[in-house]
Amino acid sequence: MVVLGLSNMRDAAAALVVDGRIVAAAEEERFVRQKHVTALPVQAIHYCLGEAGLSLCDVEAIAVPWKYWQVGRRLGLALTAMMRSTHLFRVKGRRSLERASQEWKELFRLRHELTTRVEPGACRPVFLDHHLCHAASSFLVSSFDRAAILVVDGASEADTTLLAEGEGTRITVLDRIPLPHSLGQFYAAMTAFLGFRPDQDEYIVMGLASSGEPTFAPALRREIVRTIPDGRFELNTRLLDFHLARAGYFVEEFVQLFGPPRRASDEITQRHRDLAASAQLVLEDSLLHLGRRLRSLTRASSLCLAGGVAYNCVANSRLRAELGFDHVYVPPAAGDSGAALGAALWWTVRRGPETRRPLLPDAYLGPQYDESACRAALSKAGLVAEHVPDDRLCERVASELAHGRLVFWYQGRMEWGPRALGNRSLLADPRREDMRELINSKVKHREAFRPFAPSVPAERAEEFFQVPAPSPFMQFTVQVNASAKGLLPAVTHVDGTARVQTVTREANPRFYDLLTSFGRLTGVPVLLNTSFNVQEPIVCSPEEAVRCFLRTRVDWLVLGNLLVGRPAPAQPRHHEG
Ligand SMILES: [Fe+2]
Repeated sequence: MVVLGLSNMRDAAAALVVDGRIVAAAEEERFVRQKHVTALPVQAIHYCLGEAGLSLCDVEAIAVPWKYWQVGRRLGLALTAMMRSTHLFRVKGRRSLERASQEWKELFRLRHELTTRVEPGACRPVFLDHHLCHAASSFLVSSFDRAAILVVDGASEADTTLLAEGEGTRITVLDRIPLPHSLGQFYAAMTAFLGFRPDQDEYIVMGLASSGEPTFAPALRREIVRTIPDGRFELNTRLLDFHLARAGYFVEEFVQLFGPPRRASDEITQRHRDLAASAQLVLEDSLLHLGRRLRSLTRASSLCLAGGVAYNCVANSRLRAELGFDHVYVPPAAGDSGAALGAALWWTVRRGPETRRPLLPDAYLGPQYDESACRAALSKAGLVAEHVPDDRLCERVASELAHGRLVFWYQGRMEWGPRALGNRSLLADPRREDMRELINSKVKHREAFRPFAPSVPAERAEEFFQVPAPSPFMQFTVQVNASAKGLLPAVTHVDGTARVQTVTREANPRFYDLLTSFGRLTGVPVLLNTSFNVQEPIVCSPEEAVRCFLRTRVDWLVLGNLLVGRPAPAQPRHHEG
């Protein structure tokens, strides 16, 4: 059975599952070059179909991870808001109504849009429960026969949290927590309060949290997020409403408790760090509260996480350490793009003849480009490349890295999910104290406190990090071993942790070889690995890779086997006479 999953809401994406096998998946933002884009994922659909050599008329089911008609609760909340204040209605009510009408339109227009904007012959889409699709995106590709499943995001059609149990190909709902009680929206509102973009910059708050003290946590627990019996929690939207926070508005009572909101251009002070630490701690404690209930309900030994909150790798690590589960799994695309793949998988196991669950051994599900496409992109930019044969490539690049050079590393299929995992990466030597500043000055221009992540061959990980389990998708933070802290300053966060990626030869042979080559030269088979982009979505095509390279001062660009050095700056002309 051929099932196309697609999400046309925020983080639009498409995924193709053929006879129970995941053939392709990609986020639309990579093609249209706009982060978190909300759109019909036309280009991602074309890519997925092209990867399988299929047309839209070959697709037997189009699965969408939203039941658009279940928006009644959101509308009810908008009406309640209207009754409370006209200001609240202006922000929250209007947004809810706009979104509801947009969703209704999508419901009726999707097939027509597919036919006119992709190809004729689209079958009628099926609309699936959003949180069940998140749950499927994690449990169905995990290695567990049976597991507890926790989904936490901003909001689905009407809920914010799902507790479920997976067994075989079945997923049973145990409990749901409805709007407006949302941990995702709480953290997003705190992100806005701290002067960052809600629904986008939560990872910045998470990074900031480790340099603060959670001095505001008691007040947040008392006034904003209260845990209540049965593993549940309540959010006081009278004091902290996500919709108002999006508009930059905070009620007087909240400002009295926590001080004035930070504007994006304001300096980051200790109060901001303490607020970030407090929000992070309250989020973690609430998740633990949910997790304990889930564990007692299921008695399962494994846990699957999904939903946008599962990108909080610090919280994931606490859940793994403190809930008593033997294994915790987080898929590479835990957020709403991942729900597109979850929808395709969920429909496959519910309606298809396949009884086996698909595997997701790695995250390399996106497009790849051959050498001629890479050469064409380079020659268009007037760049000269050297072809380095397979047996010399990794040694050569490792040697450049060991000499402190920065390398844009572009190989094979693009990663699924927001992390660069060794195919669209910027790589550097993690042993250099000044490497963070060097990257920030030459490439990224991002907040100095934000950590960079390390990649390491899986079997060497324990020499440097306290890794209780493989971490192929960078979804957990772990302690750096005391003996390695001085060794890896550029990837060790202020709290002594690192968001490590463990790499196996099977998952990514070339990246694995590069890591081991670097290890042979330096004794440390660890590389700093950050994404190949500069304030844009991660690069997808060779043209974007070349453009990004030329916009920065990175020393080398490696496109497959093609090695490109930084062009010499134009010599100033000498005028005579
Ligand atoms: Fe979601």
